[in-house]
Amino acid sequence: MILISGSGSNMAAIVRTAQQEDWARRHGARVAAVLSNKADAAGLAFARAEGIATEALSHKAFDSREAFDTALAQAIDRYQPSLVVLAGFMRILTPGFVARYAGRLINIHPSLLPAFTGLNTHQRAIDAGCKVAGVTVHQVTDELDVGPILDQAAVPVLPGDTAETLAARVQAQEHVIYPRAVRAFITALA
Ligand code: GRF
Repeated sequence: MILISGSGSNMAAIVRTAQQEDWARRHGARVAAVLSNKADAAGLAFARAEGIATEALSHKAFDSREAFDTALAQAIDRYQPSLVVLAGFMRILTPGFVARYAGRLINIHPSLLPAFTGLNTHQRAIDAGCKVAGVTVHQVTDELDVGPILDQAAVPVLPGDTAETLAARVQAQEHVIYPRAVRAFITALA
């Protein structure tokens, strides 16, 4: 099960990998559904076109984070997923939600954690004079962007980089390591 808020390029990379690589067939793995907190997320159209079930659940329809997360968990649990993948899902999750999916909830963060938790990671890496930047896949725990690290990739920060050029270089690596981390998780289950 993959949760998105936007373009869903990481979700698409995972879907393509699960379709094309042998491990998914061998392990009976498939993307059960793609859920977005934004009904107009471009990634939902991609998932629909691939014949994957989609769900849209707006956080704005709920009075509190807890109420949204309860509805979110109900939507997820209908699919009984082995793994819940946050792929650009721009919501902070409550401790109750995180506990419910402990050990099977993963996220991708566009920095080399533990450096640069939070937002605007690429600009902050440039401003700090970093020579390398990168991306991390990690387990989700209560603290934002601080769970056990599952996979990482580094890229150079080049002279003249802007947040946009660096983000593009990092994102190419995101599409390599997120499918790889999902594959590692699923193959370890069997
Ligand atoms: C990625 O840069 C990811 O690292 C961050 O949100 C972005 C999502 O991009 N958490 P996309 O929707 O997968 O294209």
